Amino acid sequence: MPIANPDIEFLRGIVADLSGNVIAPRQVYMLEQRLNPLAESLGLTDIDELVKELRRSHDPSLKTKVAEAVTVNETSFFRDVHPFEALRTSIIPELVKKNAAKKSIRIWCAAASTGQEPVSIAMTIREGFPELSNWKFDIVATDLSEDVLDRCRGGNYSQLEVNRGLPARKLIRFFERSGADWRTKPEIRDMIRYQRLNLTKPLTFMSQFDIVFIRNVLIYFDQPTKTDILNRVHRTLSPDGYLFIGSSETVIGMGLPYRREEIDATVCYRPTTG
Ligand SMILES: C[S@@+](CC[C@H](N)C(=O)[O-])C[C@H]1O[C@@H](n2cnc3c(N)ncnc32)[C@H](O)[C@@H]1O
Repeated sequence: MPIANPDIEFLRGIVADLSGNVIAPRQVYMLEQRLNPLAESLGLTDIDELVKELRRSHDPSLKTKVAEAVTVNETSFFRDVHPFEALRTSIIPELVKKNAAKKSIRIWCAAASTGQEPVSIAMTIREGFPELSNWKFDIVATDLSEDVLDRCRGGNYSQLEVNRGLPARKLIRFFERSGADWRTKPEIRDMIRYQRLNLTKPLTFMSQFDIVFIRNVLIYFDQPTKTDILNRVHRTLSPDGYLFIGSSETVIGMGLPYRREEIDATVCYRPTTG
């Protein structure tokens, strides 16, 4: 049975309040696709029952489950490849000169989903810069969804997942067999800290990042939310840091304090002051 219109509005409201994600009319099918299994896993017969429970219950965790269930977690290793090339050929070598005294580089991977993006960053650094083994690389990978973060922490990827974007050479070098799956080796796992973070809520990082990846998530927010997030991300970025957004996303024309820079085949953004 299709979801009744008032229930659609109710569910879209919950998702917007808790994650800032906008469910466009053409994406309403996603509510059915994602919330039927959620209802089932909670012992409820269908979405109708789930909506009744949401209206009745004051348990905030139920709303959180709904918001997290409808996020899009699509990702892959070395997605769009060029940003990782830019890290290798240009950005890390420059930061090595700049941060020579403290011997550390901080990277934030916002909206990391199941971790293929931070793991790709860690592999790029380990493979490209073996001489930096005494440096501290602090990769902070965050996401809204506890479910995906739990998966990240385990470091396990299926054969299907490693087939998407991961060259065989890197699979052999940085992963080990774990039953039918593959697991990242400790040298990669130890470089990454995973933590839950909702981008629509205050960002409470203690020190600034040299590089921020916030890719393929801005598309799910409305314009004011996107502007607000990118303004707050600006404060977490070191004055000469680098910001990567998704290849189909832009900050141009939004009056934001970033300037566009091309590095070989990729585009990144650098903070401007003021
Ligand atoms: C399409 S994935 C992008 C993954 C990766 N960055 C990439 O480009 O392959 C989008 C991720 O954004 C997360 N997300 C959605 N809304 C969020 C929010 N308000 N705060 C933090 N993460 C959010 C989702 O949970 C999902 O894992």
